[in-house]
Amino acid sequence: MPGGTDPRPLGGLDDAFGAGWLRMIALEPAPQEHMVPLRDARLVRVLGLVEDALRRTGDGSRRSVPSAGALYPYDVVVVGGSGRRPQVLRPDLTRGICAALPLSGAAAADLRAALDEDGGIDGADHVVLLARPWLSMRKYGPRGHLYTQLDAGHAATSLLGTALGQGPAVLRLRVPRRRISACLDPFLPYREVHSVVSVEAARKDDQVRETTVNLTSLPRRDVAESMERFCWSQIPEALRDGGDRALPVTSAPVVVVDDAPGGLRRIGRHEWRLLTRLRQSCKRFDQQEQPADGVAAALEVITTALPTDLPDVTGGDGGVRVSVLTGPGPIADACRRRLPGGDIRLAVSDAANDPAVVTRLCLGQRHIGWAKALVMFHLRTERLLRAGRPQDVRDALFRASAAAHLIYLGAARNGVAVTAVGGFDTRALRSVAGIGDGEEAVYLMALGVEAGTGGKLDRLAVAHAHGE
Ligand SMILES: Cc1cc2nc3c(=O)[nH]c(=O)nc-3n(C[C@H](O)[C@H](O)[C@H](O)COP(=O)(O)O)c2cc1C
Repeated sequence: MPGGTDPRPLGGLDDAFGAGWLRMIALEPAPQEHMVPLRDARLVRVLGLVEDALRRTGDGSRRSVPSAGALYPYDVVVVGGSGRRPQVLRPDLTRGICAALPLSGAAAADLRAALDEDGGIDGADHVVLLARPWLSMRKYGPRGHLYTQLDAGHAATSLLGTALGQGPAVLRLRVPRRRISACLDPFLPYREVHSVVSVEAARKDDQVRETTVNLTSLPRRDVAESMERFCWSQIPEALRDGGDRALPVTSAPVVVVDDAPGGLRRIGRHEWRLLTRLRQSCKRFDQQEQPADGVAAALEVITTALPTDLPDVTGGDGGVRVSVLTGPGPIADACRRRLPGGDIRLAVSDAANDPAVVTRLCLGQRHIGWAKALVMFHLRTERLLRAGRPQDVRDALFRASAAAHLIYLGAARNGVAVTAVGGFDTRALRSVAGIGDGEEAVYLMALGVEAGTGGKLDRLAVAHAHGE
C-alpha cells in the first residue's frame, strides 16, 4: 500500500473503516528534486542517448517511440561512468528527472559484472531496459503483457539505432536476468529485464559537455503495491525470468530476407535520429490513393542489419514471417517488384481494399479502415510456444517489434502514414491473408495516407500526479 504513514491520530474514527480508507487513498509525498552538475562525460553521453532515443523529440510532446495506449510500460537504468565504482542512474522518462539508485558498492559492482559478461564491447556503458507489465496490463488485461513486450522492443530498437549513430553499440536479449534483477529489485520491483544496450564508452577527449541533471533525492519505490503484485503473480515465472545462455553478437536483419542490399534501402546510422524526430502514428487514414511505390519503399528498410545476439535463423523456420496484405492494384505491383523476399511475402486480396473489412480485421477501429496495406507478423504456433523455451517468445516478439520500428522510420522517410495495431482479429486475418491455422499473429501494422487530423490523443494523457 503506498503511503499510509500519516502520523495524525484517527480520533473517533472506527479503525477498520476509517484507517482502512485513509490507507486506500494515501499517496507518497513528491520526491525532493535538486539540480546537480554532472561532469562524467560517459554518463552525460548515455543520458543524452536515452533522451534522444526514448523521450520527447517531436511536435506536441510526441515521444521518439510508439506505445500501445501511450503507456510506455518500462523503465531504463543506466549503469556506467568513468569512476571505479559504477553509477546506477534511473532517468524518469515521464517527468524528466533522474534518480541515483543507492546500490551498495558490492551490488553495483555485481550489476556491472553481470552486464559486462559476454558484453561484446569492452568497458562499455550499459542501458538496461526493464519492462513493467503492470502499466499495460491494468488497462488491457492479460494481453497487456504482449503489448509490454512489443513496446519494449520498440524502445530497445530505438536505443540501439540511436546509439549506432554515435559509435559501436550492441543489443542483447540473452543476459543474466536473475542476477540483474537481484540488484535492481529492491528499488524497481515487478520489472522484467527485457534487454541491454551496451555502448562504447565516450573517450576523455570526446566533445561531451558537462550537463545538469535534475536528481531526485530518494528513489521512489515506484509501485502500486498490492495490485501490481497480483498482476505480477499472473505472469508465468518462466516468461519473466527465463532465457537462453549468451550467444555472440552478429549484425543481421531481424527478419530473414533473400537479398539484403545495403545502399539506400536500409536506415543509415546517421539518419536514425532525424527519422526518429519525424516518426509518428497515424490518427486516421484517408481514402486518397497512395503513391504506388511508397508502401514498398517504407517496407524495404526491414533489410537494415542490427547488431544483436539473436540466433541465425536463415534456412530454418525460427524467424518471424511477414505477410503484406494489400488489394490488387499499383501498390501490390510495386510490392511484387520491390519486396526483398525471404520471410516477407505478399498477399493480395480484394478484401484489403474494403474499409469495412479492414475495420473488422482491426476489431472495429474505424480510423484504420482506409489503410492501403496491412503488415502482419506471424510464426508457427508450435515454434513460438515450446515448453521450457521462453526465449523463443522473447526473440519472436523482439524481431516483430524491431521490424515494426524500422517500418515506422521507413514510413517517415517516404511520407507514408503508419500505425502499429495491437488489437486485431487473428482468425479473420489468417483467412484474408491465406495463412494456415497453425500460425500465430503477434503484431500488425497499417500503412496508408494520413487524413491530416494531427497526432494521436492518448499520448497527451500522461498522469504526472501519480508519478507515472
Ligand atoms: C504495441 C502497440 C500497439 C498499438 N495498438 C494500436 C491500435 O490497436 N490502434 C491504434 O490506433 N494505435 C495503436 N498503437 C499506436 C499508439 O496508439 C501510439 O503509438 C501512441 O498513441 C503514441 O503515439 P505516437 O506513436 O504518434 O507517438 C499501438 C502502438 C503499439 C506500440
